[in-house]
Amino acid sequence: MNDVVIQKTSAFFQEKFGSTPEKVVLSPGRINIIGEHIDYNDGYVLPAAIDKIICFAFAKNNSNESKIIALDLNEELVVDLSADVSYSKIEWTNYLLGVIKQLQDNGFNFEGFNCVFSSNIPVGSGLSSSAALECGFLYGINSLFDLQIKPIDMALMGQKAEHWVGINCGIMDQFSSVMGLENKVIKIDCKTLEYEYHTADFNDYALILFDSNVKHSLMTSAYNQRREQCEEGLSLLKNKFPEINSFRDCRLKHVHELKDVMSADVFKRCSFVVKEIERVTLACTALDNGAIETLGQLMFETHEGLSQEYEVSCNELDFLVDFVKNEKAVVGSRLMGGGFGGCTINLIKKGEEDAIKTKLVEGYKATFGIDLKIYDVKIGNGTSLYEPLKH
Ligand code: GLA
Repeated sequence: MNDVVIQKTSAFFQEKFGSTPEKVVLSPGRINIIGEHIDYNDGYVLPAAIDKIICFAFAKNNSNESKIIALDLNEELVVDLSADVSYSKIEWTNYLLGVIKQLQDNGFNFEGFNCVFSSNIPVGSGLSSSAALECGFLYGINSLFDLQIKPIDMALMGQKAEHWVGINCGIMDQFSSVMGLENKVIKIDCKTLEYEYHTADFNDYALILFDSNVKHSLMTSAYNQRREQCEEGLSLLKNKFPEINSFRDCRLKHVHELKDVMSADVFKRCSFVVKEIERVTLACTALDNGAIETLGQLMFETHEGLSQEYEVSCNELDFLVDFVKNEKAVVGSRLMGGGFGGCTINLIKKGEEDAIKTKLVEGYKATFGIDLKIYDVKIGNGTSLYEPLKH
């Protein structure tokens, strides 16, 4: 499937600019097995890059101006690189302008280039198409002008670009997009940015995403608000317990001791964060031991917490999780990513996927009148140059 995007992007580049691209970059979306909304709370997360990508074709154009074409939208962005970057009204362009701003702010020198990109990552489904956009774009400029930016720094700059756009996100999405490895999940310690790869072996179970087809319009403001509530909670915890520096030092009993001091919302958010940090550690051990039912159970618990305590679910996502809870073939399910829409991630017994898919598609349509979309997940590599002989 990626071949189609690569071919299409390169051919359009050739047609539009009259030369073959100098660099072709593939930048993936991500899934997350467990560890939601704790990347910005010093927790652990367990994401992986997937085989859905944005493909970018690049070449220098010996000018001070860059022309970037979003092939799928038939829109283009022209950037004068000698001027300061400012916000645009066209949403997708801001992610790229944010990357250029990061490069400028960090003193990197580069010249004009032409770029075409096209994607097969669904947008607004919680698969981090924006991180793929930031990281792939940055990777291409880095490679074209030999800027020698380290992968981790690319992830951090991608994250800052996203902040500039307006979401005060954590590091998980950009980190997984850059650092992903085929058939591995990455356990990231978001406090130190240390990371380890764990084999993504789910035994008899397949990873399937169900896309609610609900777009998360509330996401930006609610996300930033959740983050502020956690900061408020942490500052109360630090005041009361000097041994606490971050949520990592925190136990549920600490949060409970402050129940009367915290607002009801802040109490719920902090309770979730502390439990979710613990769950990731348990889940990673379960994965390493092949205890997939245990892992699945933890995923159900995460969903419950995201829905009731962190309050980032919606009726459609709750329905998708509740529905499969009654199915023996499904050992785990939860909303994935920021929430308010997008996908659930599910562990379904191999051989029984089709039956579950059929039932869920029908049930979902009957209840909400919405068509469910389904993605079978393959774990792929992080952002890289496309080298035809290797594919
Ligand atoms: C979004 C953010 C991530 C992370 C998730 C929730 O995807 O970009 O940093 O916080 O939500 O886990």
